[in-house]
Amino acid sequence: MQRLPLVLQSQSIQPALIAVLTAIADGCRDIARQINRGALAGVLGAAGAENVQGEQQKKLDVIANDILKSLLLREPTVRALASEEEEAIVPANADGRYLVSFDPLDGSSNIDINSMVGTIFSIYDVPGATPVTEADFLRPGRQQVAAGYVLYGPAVMLVLTTGQGVQMYTLDQHAGEFLLTEARVSIAADTNEFAINMSNQRFWSEPMQHFIGQLLQGKDGPRNKNFNMRWVAAMVADVHRILCRGGLFAYPWDRREPEKPGKLRLMYEANPMALLVERAGGEAWTDSEKILDLQPQHIHQRVPVILGSANEVMACIDAHRPKPFSPN
Ligand code: AHG
Ligand code: MN
Ligand code: MN
Repeated sequence: MQRLPLVLQSQSIQPALIAVLTAIADGCRDIARQINRGALAGVLGAAGAENVQGEQQKKLDVIANDILKSLLLREPTVRALASEEEEAIVPANADGRYLVSFDPLDGSSNIDINSMVGTIFSIYDVPGATPVTEADFLRPGRQQVAAGYVLYGPAVMLVLTTGQGVQMYTLDQHAGEFLLTEARVSIAADTNEFAINMSNQRFWSEPMQHFIGQLLQGKDGPRNKNFNMRWVAAMVADVHRILCRGGLFAYPWDRREPEKPGKLRLMYEANPMALLVERAGGEAWTDSEKILDLQPQHIHQRVPVILGSANEVMACIDAHRPKPFSPN
C-alpha cells in the first residue's frame, strides 16, 4: 500500500501543495491521538467559551484548532488560514501561495459520547502577492485546488481530492502514515438511504417536507420502494457513508432562525464536501444551485446542503423547482 506523499507525487501534485497536505495529515494524526486518549488526556467536555457563531466550544474544538493552526502557520507555503473557531482570517507566510479553510472538529456533539468526529479542509491557490484579506478566500468552491476530510472513527481515514478523482487512505497507527486503501471512490447514482435530522421536519420548506414525506411512504407511496434512514450528527461521518455506499444527505433550509439560511458552513463544510462528492460522480446543491458555483459572501456563511447519489439529489432539487401554472 502506498504512502500519501508517494501517491501525491505520482499524481504530479506541486511540491508546495504536497507540503500543505502533509502538514494537515500530520496535524490530524496528532488530533486522532488526543481523541483516542479521551478522558485519559483530560480533553473531553466544554472549553467554557463560545466561538464566533455563538456555539459552545468543546475542549477538543480548541485543541484541534490549535494543532492545525500552529502546523499550518509554520508551513512556508501557507499564506493564510480560516477556521470555524477563528473569527477572522489568520495571516501566515507572506511568500506562501495557499489559503486553507478548515473545520478543525466536525460533529463536536459526538465527542463526549465517544462517537465519530472529523476534520474538514479546503485549499485555494492565492492570486497575486498583495497582503491577503478575507476577500481572497471568497471564491467559488469549484476553484478549490484540493479538499478533503479526516474521519476519526474505528479506523482513522483521510479522504482527499486533488483533481484526480477521490482517494481514501487509512492511518497505520504504528507507522504513523496514511496508506492508500481506495484509489477510485465512486458514488452509486441510485440509493434507498437518506440522512436528515427529522426533528426539524416542521421547520423545513413545503417542497422539502413533501419530498421526504414521499420517501417515508416507501413502497406504499409514489416512490414505490422502501427507504432506510441514518443520522450520525457529524457531517464527516454521514458523507463518508455516502462515499462508501451511496445515499442522500441533507441539512436543508429551515425557518428556525431567519438570519441563518442553513446550519452548515459554506467555506469549510459544504464546499470541500461538494468537491469530493462531485468528483466521485455525485451531486451537491443548495435547494436551487450547485454548491460549487456559489459566490461566497463571508467566511462563516451558512448554506442549505443537499448532496449524494446523483439521481436522488436531482429528484430532491426537482421537487423544489417552481411548478408551471395549471388552471385545474
Ligand atoms: P460542528 O460540530 O463543526 O459545529 O458541525 C456539526 C454539524 C454537522 O457536522 C452535522 O451534520 C450537524 O451539525 C448536526 O446537526 P444537528 O445537531 O442539528 O443534528
Ligand atoms: Mn462542522
Ligand atoms: Mn467544528
